[in-house]
Amino acid sequence: MTEADYQEKIPNNVDLHEDRRLQRALESWQPNFLNWWESMGPTLPTEDVYLRTAVNVGREGWAHFGHVAMRDYRWGIFLAERDENRRIGFGQHKGEPAWQQVPGEYRADLQRLIVIQGDTEPASVEQQRNLGATAPSLYDLRNLFQVNVEEGRHLWAMVYLLHAYFGRQGREEAEELLHRNSGSAEAPRILGAFNEETPDWLSFYMFTYFTDRDGKYQLGTLKESAFDPLSRTCEFMLKEEAHHMMVGTTGVDRVVERTAQVMVENETDDVAALGVIPLPVIQKYLNFHYSVSLDLFGSETSTNVANYYTAGLKGRWLEERRRDDHKLTDDSIMVDSLTPDGEIGHTEVSALTGLNTDLRREYIADCEGGVKRWNRILADAGLPQRLRLPHSAFNRKVGAFSGIEATPEGEILTASQWEQGKGQWLPTDTDKTFIRSLMRPVHERGKIAAWIAPPRQGINGKPFDYDYVHLS
Ligand SMILES: [Fe+2]
Ligand SMILES: [Fe+2]
Repeated sequence: MTEADYQEKIPNNVDLHEDRRLQRALESWQPNFLNWWESMGPTLPTEDVYLRTAVNVGREGWAHFGHVAMRDYRWGIFLAERDENRRIGFGQHKGEPAWQQVPGEYRADLQRLIVIQGDTEPASVEQQRNLGATAPSLYDLRNLFQVNVEEGRHLWAMVYLLHAYFGRQGREEAEELLHRNSGSAEAPRILGAFNEETPDWLSFYMFTYFTDRDGKYQLGTLKESAFDPLSRTCEFMLKEEAHHMMVGTTGVDRVVERTAQVMVENETDDVAALGVIPLPVIQKYLNFHYSVSLDLFGSETSTNVANYYTAGLKGRWLEERRRDDHKLTDDSIMVDSLTPDGEIGHTEVSALTGLNTDLRREYIADCEGGVKRWNRILADAGLPQRLRLPHSAFNRKVGAFSGIEATPEGEILTASQWEQGKGQWLPTDTDKTFIRSLMRPVHERGKIAAWIAPPRQGINGKPFDYDYVHLS
């Protein structure tokens, strides 16, 4: 595969110049995208930022690093290399050649899946637009902008599919992706978690850990798709997502590390007055972001998702590693449910209708990894406190437990008990005000805010005190 030509208006590895109509359609969407970026993207004015730009999709050297003015960032279209012999890995079409075009019967469903994925990408840029003004270091500021430009590129990835394969309807949907906005009253983003604010950096790290990770799992299922262009697009997006995961994981690491350090130095748990974030507040933010991210996986059972799987549109996480028939017509799975007398329980359903639960289970196991890591930091500091993931019934708005309230331990509460107790489990206005009071920008090279530890490594082999961002 050839490297993208950055002289072209829209850098790409899909031979865009061979399809003039498509090229013109995307070129007419491009100024709308740039308008959206100017009006809804990062608000902090910068001269340039040390950014990674995708240039190729191969294993080695797929990206280029350098200082670029953000408005001149080149959002390109990249699909992973095509495997001419790729066959469908699951569902009723298992073993047939992967589709290079959209089968008419699955057109509406595929378009919907692409629109839902596409809607999350610009949403997170909108949610994070004001964070630059309070960045704890230039290193963090650079990472924020890296995540932002790549979410912008992921929007391009989905818009390419809509334009290339879904005709006029696809082009209309591509426009709508720029018209809906996070938190808007008239035209909100499609999914709940993407209409929540990301008002501070603790929220940003929690978002990139928990909510971006949901994105990783959704992309993982679409990577399995029988529709080959979608599969190849998602495969490459997952490569970029790895950095977003790193930002979240190490961001929370560094917050916990700094808190632990101040706790030990001062022999107290009560560290708010010392300018760092107390562990109970970190736990509340974790509870919030984890629970809203669980909602993103949808109901425990879904006939839509069963149909998507059978049709070959959307597979399971690491489908090829599953040791079963990849059709699941005779299998079953246990899913969360309420018992007839309103207790938290489980029921057995067909494996196909329980696929959301299967994906959520993979996700939860992955999230446990983060908690383990953060607890190791506490243990290494000699502290007895531990962080934990709340119960799947806690603070849910979607699925079997949306009608009840429960503690993070999974004990059912009455409405009034919940009202009384929720301030212990979810960030209160006081907590949010406190966190905001810590969010003072440190835009000086090599310096860092007092509430967070510096990273162990810089970006692309550069040191922490590198000039990652030049402000204007
Ligand atoms: Fe993304
Ligand atoms: Fe992401």
